[in-house]
Amino acid sequence: MSQRNAFYKIEWSALITVIGIIILFSTAIIFTLIAPAYLDPSWVNPSSAYQKQMYEISDPNLYISSNTKEGGSELQFVYHLKKGFTLLAFQETKTVKIIAPPNLERFVTAFEEKKLKLTSELLLLREPQSNDQFNAKDESEKLIKKMQKQWEKEAEGTAELKKPRPYFVVYELYQSKGEDGFSLASSEGILENWVDEDFVILDEEPRQEYHKDPGVIYVLNPLEYRVKRYKFGPEEGWQFSSDGTPIANLKELKSHELGFRSRHELIYEGETIYAHEGCWYCHSDQTRTLVQDVVLNGNEDYPAPPSSANEYIYQEITFPATRRIGPDLSRVGVKRPSRDWHKSHFWSPKTESKGSIMPAFQHFFDDDPRGIARGKIGIPNFRFEAMYQYLMTKGTRITPPTEAWWLGKDPVQTKEIIEGKKKLP
Ligand code: HEC
Repeated sequence: MSQRNAFYKIEWSALITVIGIIILFSTAIIFTLIAPAYLDPSWVNPSSAYQKQMYEISDPNLYISSNTKEGGSELQFVYHLKKGFTLLAFQETKTVKIIAPPNLERFVTAFEEKKLKLTSELLLLREPQSNDQFNAKDESEKLIKKMQKQWEKEAEGTAELKKPRPYFVVYELYQSKGEDGFSLASSEGILENWVDEDFVILDEEPRQEYHKDPGVIYVLNPLEYRVKRYKFGPEEGWQFSSDGTPIANLKELKSHELGFRSRHELIYEGETIYAHEGCWYCHSDQTRTLVQDVVLNGNEDYPAPPSSANEYIYQEITFPATRRIGPDLSRVGVKRPSRDWHKSHFWSPKTESKGSIMPAFQHFFDDDPRGIARGKIGIPNFRFEAMYQYLMTKGTRITPPTEAWWLGKDPVQTKEIIEGKKKLP
């Protein structure tokens, strides 16, 4: 009997244990489900202007693919433009003119006009087309003839006339249908730009805080991304073509067999490549508070701000490193922004830096976007692009240094100067 009783007791405590476990687990599950709704939003969303800026820069709106662009051998950059979000500017150059129907004329910034006209309307450029309202084709032909005549007149009697005549181009500005648009960018940045001064926003009702948040990407002169569909045996696809039709959406863009990837994805890929290639063995990623770092990563007039912990929050792997066989890279995006420079430096470091001991990274180049068919020609592949986009985050995600950085030796004084409580001596 007593034995049976003892058995009874064990069962009873087992029951309590099981109930206890169920209560514990369900409370945990309920908490994890409910808690996020009550989380302080500043934990998960960018709150300060500084954090917002970092979000903007790793903005996934740039899509990159290897190219089938007519006649080119470059990577293809496609911008995803959104109404009310992207700031666009349409500026003419010496040889490129923009024509627009009367209601859109005010969005065109003329050549040499000081103030860039920005808008959050989704407008695009295309090769002039004719329709009932606006005969852009005829207008553009007239304009080209006029530009050619004017050039001849100005060049008459000068050495200019012997040179080949410049190639004049006219684009038509038009209102795109829908809230989305894609634009093609050359890799040399005519499309992407920073506007720090001398601009005016034409929209009466700005839909986002434009200039107050530094780090917004302004896009100059977007060209519409048009594609032509083809069928080649069993293969079906599309490729860029200036007289094709616009692509519909992001899904279509990403579904291309050349695999458009966002800048965001490339940055993380670059981070992984940086780890695998052992760049951290020779390069550090931290500007110390020492004068030599601050001056080497910037210069005498424009000292680089020392690294702070929050710069690393969006990185999955951090490489502060300790050895400095090569220069520190924490500000390299500001110091060396040129894509061409990095292209030739990775292909052959010695051509850019005399006597460099950095190894060449020629497997960042070939004619296959996936980087497997190592060819003889140096066309940058995704590895290069990923590394380049990753390097460009270095030093560009921070607030530009103020004069107060010069006084970095005294943190209290620096803080007071930044906060405006104290004036520079
Ligand atoms: C064996 C050591 C070594 C390795 C490994 C190495 N580098 Fe370098 N790197 C150097 C040296 C030395 C220099 C300075 C000379 C020069 O500019 O080539 C340099 C320069 C650079 C520069 C120019 C920096 C500046 O401020 O001028 C960049 C960018 C760079 N390396 C990136 C990388 C990346 C990315 C990797 C990995 C894919 C890498 N390096 C791997 C040694 C190395």
